[in-house]
Amino acid sequence: MFFKKSLGLGLALCQLIGKSSGTGSDGVQAYEKVQFSNVGFAGTYTPVKSLKNVDSSKCSCEVSGDVWFSGTNAPMSSGVSVHFRGPLKLHQFAYYTSSNFDVTSNSTSESWSRLAYYDASSQVGENVTFLTAAGDDSPCLGKALTYAASNGTGSASSSTLIASDTLLKSDEEFMIYSNISCPSSSTKKGCGVYRKGIPAFYGFDGETKMFVFEFETPTETQSNSSSFSYYDLPAIWLLNEQIARTSQYPTNSNCSCWASGCGEFDIFEAMNGTEKNNFYSTFHTFQGIEYLGTGIQADGYIPRSTSGTMKGGVVFDSSGNTVVFMSNNTAFDLSIDAGTLNGILSDFNSSASYQTKLATISATAPSTTSKSNALSIFERGHGLLRYYVFIAVTTFTQVFLF
Ligand SMILES: *[C@@H]1O[C@H](CO)[C@@H](O)[C@H](O)[C@H]1NC(C)=O
Ligand SMILES: *[C@@H]1O[C@H](CO)[C@@H](O)[C@H](O)[C@H]1NC(C)=O
Ligand SMILES: *[C@@H]1O[C@H](CO)[C@@H](O)[C@H](O)[C@H]1NC(C)=O
Ligand SMILES: *[C@@H]1O[C@H](CO)[C@@H](O)[C@H](O)[C@H]1NC(C)=O
Ligand SMILES: *[C@@H]1O[C@H](CO)[C@@H](O)[C@H](O)[C@H]1NC(C)=O
Ligand SMILES: *[C@@H]1O[C@H](CO)[C@@H](O)[C@H](O)[C@H]1NC(C)=O
Ligand SMILES: *[C@@H]1O[C@H](CO)[C@@H](O)[C@H](O)[C@H]1NC(C)=O
Ligand SMILES: *[C@@H]1O[C@H](CO)[C@@H](O)[C@H](O)[C@H]1NC(C)=O
Ligand SMILES: *[C@@H]1O[C@H](CO)[C@@H](O)[C@H](O)[C@H]1NC(C)=O
Repeated sequence: MFFKKSLGLGLALCQLIGKSSGTGSDGVQAYEKVQFSNVGFAGTYTPVKSLKNVDSSKCSCEVSGDVWFSGTNAPMSSGVSVHFRGPLKLHQFAYYTSSNFDVTSNSTSESWSRLAYYDASSQVGENVTFLTAAGDDSPCLGKALTYAASNGTGSASSSTLIASDTLLKSDEEFMIYSNISCPSSSTKKGCGVYRKGIPAFYGFDGETKMFVFEFETPTETQSNSSSFSYYDLPAIWLLNEQIARTSQYPTNSNCSCWASGCGEFDIFEAMNGTEKNNFYSTFHTFQGIEYLGTGIQADGYIPRSTSGTMKGGVVFDSSGNTVVFMSNNTAFDLSIDAGTLNGILSDFNSSASYQTKLATISATAPSTTSKSNALSIFERGHGLLRYYVFIAVTTFTQVFLF
């Protein structure tokens, strides 16, 4: 989402269940559910420490020392913002957390509580703030965040719900944060350092969390031209909440924590014109890969409908499973039973299952401090190669069930 991705290097570290129909240009199949396991590792990233001369050509940014993350789903266990790119109409959005949920077990799983909700048709917005990059332009940061106007792309002076039936066009984006305001910008405060003057809110946190959507992605009606970066390539994705508060599309990689691996997960993303009707799911974290821009992409896709309304989302469970699904049974209720959700997730028949795990990375974060000099565990490489990973598990099985 951040860089145009290079081809073919993605590791197929995922599990795919629920074959439907269709085959991609390179023989990759269509699914209704895409699952990653062993998600989460101990690692570091460098948050932005300062943004200088933001409005002039001398614009520059500095990062601070390494901050550690670890545990199940890390770094996606941190607070995240939710991003949308057209062509897309958002009908419903909900964010849930659960004290414990495992996609492989009902007996040990607890129910889900809805902590944020948006419904376009009834204009209900609970714990949501719609933002878009419609503010002042900066040579190194790009446009500043503002409250989104009801049309999704204009700027508003206060928090506004996107109007029902609003169509984002190709390249147009908005995002959702919670409605909890950030404290002042500081490396020592809850939201870290962020760009001056923006409406700054916390993202959606929790190790065990779920995001669900009802949306449409109609075919773009404008004609294609080189002025588009993402022509007819809709997407819904998650970013570490700090990224857009400093800069989502910086010209200098130190102007956001993205390049150091603070976290992105693409839930539904159309990647290129050849496969514009296929949604891929991708981790852009350093869990066993060298090239963050390529990421760890599932070797299968969920079909995009260009006519109907789609319902689906992503579950990050308490056992390191990340499950992306598309199902008309997707629920948006205030509370969802563990059995109900696992029922929806098991509703897909498994004519093919392709499975492996994300790499296990052996490193231990220091227990006393989030900033560490204990880099002897990692050997620094050049450029994007931040870790030489110790891959303890490279199990690879391919099972076909007929
Ligand atoms: C599995 O699902 C696909 C598409 O949803 C369907 O075409 C196929 O008949 C199903 N197979 C079985 C055994 O139910
Ligand atoms: C945030 O959203 C919640 C849930 O709708 C609401 O109760 C609360 O008043 C909102 N807070 C602010 C500051 O708008
Ligand atoms: C979107 O809303 C803004 C602010 O209300 C307005 O200035 C802008 O013209 C609108 N854009 C479109 C395409 O209607
Ligand atoms: C709003 O979302 C935040 C972010 O995850 C959460 O901590 C908070 O409890 C939510 N507020 C309500 C009223 O549910
Ligand atoms: C980013 O910051 C690091 C550490 O301070 C520095 O080594 C690097 O050159 C900077 N990168 C850019 C593109 O300025
Ligand atoms: C389009 O994207 C898919 C998924 O990443 C990839 O497998 C395919 O090679 C890409 N095709 C082209 C023409 O870039
Ligand atoms: C749009 O044009 C670009 C080249 O400018 C091309 O790569 C892309 O595949 C085209 N998209 C479609 C859907 O034809
Ligand atoms: C899901 O609902 C949409 C919109 O109502 C419909 O177009 C689509 O066929 C349904 N899909 C299935 C598998 O029933
Ligand atoms: C959980 O319960 C639901 C509803 O009874 C069922 O459909 C599903 O298969 C169960 N899942 C697991 C993992 O036991």
